[in-house]
Amino acid sequence: MTSRTPIIAGNWKMHNTIAQAAELVTALAKVENKNNAEIIVAPSYPSLNIATRLLKDTPIQVAAQDVHWEDKGAFTSAVSAGQAKDAGATLTLIGHSERRSVFGDTDEILNKKVAAALRHGLKVIFCVGETLQEREANKTLEVVEGQLKNGLAGFTAEQLNGIIIAYEPVWAIGTGKTATPDQAQEVHAAIRSYLTKTYGAAFGAATRILYGGSVKDTNVDEIMAKEDVDGALVGGQSLIAEKFARIINFNK
Ligand code: 13P
Repeated sequence: MTSRTPIIAGNWKMHNTIAQAAELVTALAKVENKNNAEIIVAPSYPSLNIATRLLKDTPIQVAAQDVHWEDKGAFTSAVSAGQAKDAGATLTLIGHSERRSVFGDTDEILNKKVAAALRHGLKVIFCVGETLQEREANKTLEVVEGQLKNGLAGFTAEQLNGIIIAYEPVWAIGTGKTATPDQAQEVHAAIRSYLTKTYGAAFGAATRILYGGSVKDTNVDEIMAKEDVDGALVGGQSLIAEKFARIINFNK
């Protein structure tokens, strides 16, 4: 069995000033990491640079929350993958459900964003997940598979090597409702089997699949205990150093 290094990632969304970001990463830099997890923080753009500089001598990695699909041009308010990289990010989220639902990012747009990130050498954390309506209509696996198929269309296993998938059921984000460990495991197993079928056994076995949606210090252990859950993408609790520290140090 391939052993996969766990990943604990914090998506700060539209929170934290530069001073608050500095304070938070300074606290995180001192946190123990008993599971030798890969730790990632995703600040908003204005704080990417300070976070990177303060985390320079630590293993904590910094991600952007999104990038535009073009390298430059007249795209007011957008940030390119090259700019995110220049600010210090080594990874980026793509396809977070808030990008999909609030900003209208379609599979086609996300596919171009993945291309932009890869072009600039940013590792991608590609997010998928169903709405409550889709879950209730028994469409979860179909929806998630469609998001993977369309969002990652046209890339080879070699190009996608190292990609991280985050399964975030939309109904569990910021709602306090967490998928049960069994619900998460079912979807994670389906994602892994899709990756195996599409990109080969080694790719399927090596790819880390994170769960996101109301992950807390109090539920992380049972979620991380599931075979195909390789990490967590944390929103709210990643803003609180002590809570995120406990999540990083989940009990196996
Ligand atoms: P919450 O942990 O606040 O539910 O957010 C999850 C999320 O969207 C992380 O990307």
